[in-house]
Amino acid sequence: MNRIAVYPGSFDPVTNGHIDIIERAAKIFDAVYVAVIRNPEKSPLFSIDERVGMLKASLKARKKIRIDSFDGLLVEYARAVKATSIIRGLRAVSDFDYEFQMALTNRRMDPSLETIFMMTDYKYSYLSSSLTKEIARLGGSFEGMVPPGVMRKLRSLKERGV
Ligand code: COA
Repeated sequence: MNRIAVYPGSFDPVTNGHIDIIERAAKIFDAVYVAVIRNPEKSPLFSIDERVGMLKASLKARKKIRIDSFDGLLVEYARAVKATSIIRGLRAVSDFDYEFQMALTNRRMDPSLETIFMMTDYKYSYLSSSLTKEIARLGGSFEGMVPPGVMRKLRSLKERGV
């Protein structure tokens, strides 16, 4: 039986915290679809192509990991790729309420889909995509927070005056 999981998010941009979760999930599942939401509630800084491109560049040559994008309901996307699990990372207690609500809502819509939470590595427990963008805008160092390709992209923001 193929165990397929979806790891959804806005990935605006992908951080080393996300990469850590994806790599650990790939050890448990036969395939992990990293699914970038096309139109998240938040207005993304990076376009969908840029967000997908940064993930692809950061995770190249990993057979079990597929980078994709989706629109609409997550449960419908999961069904379309035959996933049985949704992976979410938990960084701190503050993530819990939101994640609990999402997991229960998704289960209500599709009881066959199980949400699986993975604890983030302590090294990344403070990290968020917004934080890396703010540091980039203010010209600080985000060494170790994001993959090298994302680092270059974030640096170019400052040069472009974004
Ligand atoms: N390391 C570092 N940062 C992490 C992280 C980790 N392990 N895990 C989460 N984060 C951060 C992200 O960087 C992001 O930071 P930001 O707020 O500064 O951008 C934040 O945590 C949460 O982002 P993310 O995990 O990408 O979730 P999201 O809230 O952007 O996306 C979806 C949530 C896409 C899963 C959800 O909105 C969804 O499923 N939408 C589809 C529509 C649907 O089905 N709705 C009903 C759902 S109940």
